[in-house]
Amino acid sequence: MENFVMYNPVKLHFGDGVTDKAGKIAAGYGQRVLLVTGKGSAKSSGAYDQVVARLSNAGLEVFEYSGIKSNPIIEDVEKALKLSREKQVDMVVALGGGSVIDSGKTIALSYYHDGAAWDIVTGKHKPDKALPVIAVLTLAATGTEMNPVAVVQSNCEQKKIGFGNKLMYPRHSFLDPSFTMSVPKTYTAYGVVDLIAHSLEAWFGEGDASLSDRFIVAIIKEAMKYGPMLLNDLENYDLRARIMYAATSALNGLTAYGKKSGDWGVHGIGHCLSVVYDMPHGATLSVAYPAWMKLHKNRIPERIRELGAALFEVGSIDDTIYKLEYLFKSLDCPVTLTETGIDISKPESKEKLKNVMVKNKVDGLAHKLAPQDYDQLLNLMA
Ligand code: NZQ
Ligand code: ZN
Repeated sequence: MENFVMYNPVKLHFGDGVTDKAGKIAAGYGQRVLLVTGKGSAKSSGAYDQVVARLSNAGLEVFEYSGIKSNPIIEDVEKALKLSREKQVDMVVALGGGSVIDSGKTIALSYYHDGAAWDIVTGKHKPDKALPVIAVLTLAATGTEMNPVAVVQSNCEQKKIGFGNKLMYPRHSFLDPSFTMSVPKTYTAYGVVDLIAHSLEAWFGEGDASLSDRFIVAIIKEAMKYGPMLLNDLENYDLRARIMYAATSALNGLTAYGKKSGDWGVHGIGHCLSVVYDMPHGATLSVAYPAWMKLHKNRIPERIRELGAALFEVGSIDDTIYKLEYLFKSLDCPVTLTETGIDISKPESKEKLKNVMVKNKVDGLAHKLAPQDYDQLLNLMA
């Protein structure tokens, strides 16, 4: 087992009605709030009204930046920063899915930096001070609500970068499963794929940590059982709650203690598909994961076989990959780019994607991908 430090300072409030306490808790961090939201779902679902009422009733002044797009862009972060500085806010409250919360985290971390927020995303500047972040999650998927990572895109740089800083752990995260009831079937399924992908990343981590492996298998099995049920019953609170808890557990550290875990290139490929085609994050993963496993069939055969035995009770590598693909298909998620309407058969389309992969240094942490693997991967994804 690898050495590890266990640290997670997020106070997570989980369950029906938990935002009742949000106003009082936020008031502990000051009076002036930058509220960050997405394109409109929080307003149409009613979550926005509830949260604003809690904040206002606690005497807080709320300044809003709305319109964060899915696969969030640095321009929105900069605009929200401008507003937050004009209004001299004391904290950021991010109400939405991963894109909104990641933007909120980046705004908070950039607040005291005079230069560009992109410097912080790229790691050129490492702040030692940030505004407190409070997250109110409306979509179960990324785990951002309980980790110190944000992922932001720059279209002009053609880069999507995940970066971490412990100052970006939300001080409090409110997870009311009823806030996720309005998530459409597509994004509900992408969320389930995302949590499975995060668990798989830990599974393929280096180091023998059997307890972490058991957590991983338990989380994926939860998704395998309740994900398909949820897709047929989107307003079922209990199923929403199970998936929400699973998604948070998949990327809050629990699955990775005693291992060297991280991205093996699959998230990296996904981020490139986001840059070039603005594909939803979960859909990039349901396409990229099976392809990555096919590429690694002869590189890490034992680990793939063990996964198949633990999850699907199958004994062969091919059966394991087939079962994973079948699982993603049963969630109505694509397993090829063609299914998403993306055609990379033309050399220029493939070249474009490859160039973005090189630019984004898609290499994986331990199971290294070399640029000569890209062609094979893209063929497997096509
Ligand atoms: O913009 P609005 O109107 O809010 O609509 C969103 C968006 O269209 C909608 N939505 C959110 N909550 C809803 C809802 N629709 C109806 N009812 C609700 N309650 O769903 C759409 C997708 O939202 P988004 O926030 O983009 O999805 P997700 O939570 O999957 O976040 C994806 C982003 O997170 C990054 C991804 O790369 C991507 O940019 N990730 C962040 C990670 C982290 N910080 O740890 C790790 C992940 O691996 C991932 O990379
Ligand atoms: Zn992810």
